[in-house]
Amino acid sequence: EGDERMSRAEGERRSTLFHRIGLLYTGDPEREEITDAALVVEDGRVAWIGASGEAPAADERVDAGGRCVVPGFVDSHAHLVFAGDRTAEFAARMSGERYTAGGIRTTVAATRAATDAALTERTAALIDEMLAQGTTTVEIKSGYGLTAGDERRSLEIARRFTAETTFLGAHVVPPEAPSADDYVRLVTGEMLAACAPYARWVDVFCERGAFDADQSREILLAGTKSGLLPRVHANQLGEGPGARLAAEVGAASADHCTHLTDADVEALASAGVVATLLPGAEFSTRSPYPDARRLLEAGVTVALATDCNPGSSFTSSMPFCVALAVREMRMTPLEAVRAATYGGARALRRDDVGVLRRGAAGDLVILDAPSYVHLAYRPGVPLVAQVWKEGRRLV
Ligand code: NIG
Ligand code: FE
Repeated sequence: EGDERMSRAEGERRSTLFHRIGLLYTGDPEREEITDAALVVEDGRVAWIGASGEAPAADERVDAGGRCVVPGFVDSHAHLVFAGDRTAEFAARMSGERYTAGGIRTTVAATRAATDAALTERTAALIDEMLAQGTTTVEIKSGYGLTAGDERRSLEIARRFTAETTFLGAHVVPPEAPSADDYVRLVTGEMLAACAPYARWVDVFCERGAFDADQSREILLAGTKSGLLPRVHANQLGEGPGARLAAEVGAASADHCTHLTDADVEALASAGVVATLLPGAEFSTRSPYPDARRLLEAGVTVALATDCNPGSSFTSSMPFCVALAVREMRMTPLEAVRAATYGGARALRRDDVGVLRRGAAGDLVILDAPSYVHLAYRPGVPLVAQVWKEGRRLV
């Protein structure tokens, strides 16, 4: 049975008018910003958008008081099912140690040892953190189980919170695997069979030290044969084949994209692969940030996501990622809020979220600010005043 927090709600039929919206950022490329706006959500969906003075009647009225409204954030990349803690690893990095992703194995050991209840509770707590910061759609990956049973368990838990679940059995090769090739056989065989019923997506950490291009391709293609859609952890720690592989297999998204060649950028642009940038990871590993400007100029759709995980990016905050993107990745505030809403939805191939237009989900955030620019202008300040999901107030 599903958790109500971010999964589809069974709403009673009712309408809510949000009026006196000083600035409405819609996420809809056709009509991105409306001043002095109003919006009606009926039966969980946006039924009407227009000028505040022309708003129709509704069962309930919410006065935005001149504040800014944005679509609920779409966090299209998160690893929320895990146990344990890597505080010491983070502290060591902040005194000069390098991030190698080797710590994934620490989290795998803790996750395997945890009870279902403990994992579920931890995931629920992170979902609540996300909601409080305006996220209404989240993707959740497995990847800290790395056995057929533990991966399936992670996805079963993830499924209670979201429809956007991702099988990441190919996160790293676990210590008990006789060889990488043996492990790829497990991932593409028994593990995939156990996990596919609980996942929408298949992902692979294509990186030196994790899975190479041939192994990654094999895993992604096996996933697509089982009905999953591909996405790729690509080019995080150095240049490599991940982004080009994402283009080759028609992945929805290549994630991280920190180290790209011109050919990689060109491949993403021509295959229409979204580049999902995860500045929390660069923040928490003290690495150079990806160049969003270069991707945007090449015509690539950019998404922003938290990468929330206990190792490389232990933040659940989309507003924090927006602020980092503006300050560190040469994005304008408009581009960053677009990437956190519309971009995330593109990365998940969803057109019903990340956007406020007629027929879309009534997922929205009222900011304690006159403009979304404040998300970057006032970094670290809790600006999320109200969060509504499918027409119900959750925060
Ligand atoms: O997206 N890069 C691989 N996976 C995660 C990190 C996981 C970890 O360090 O636990 C990421 O950054
Ligand atoms: Fe990740």
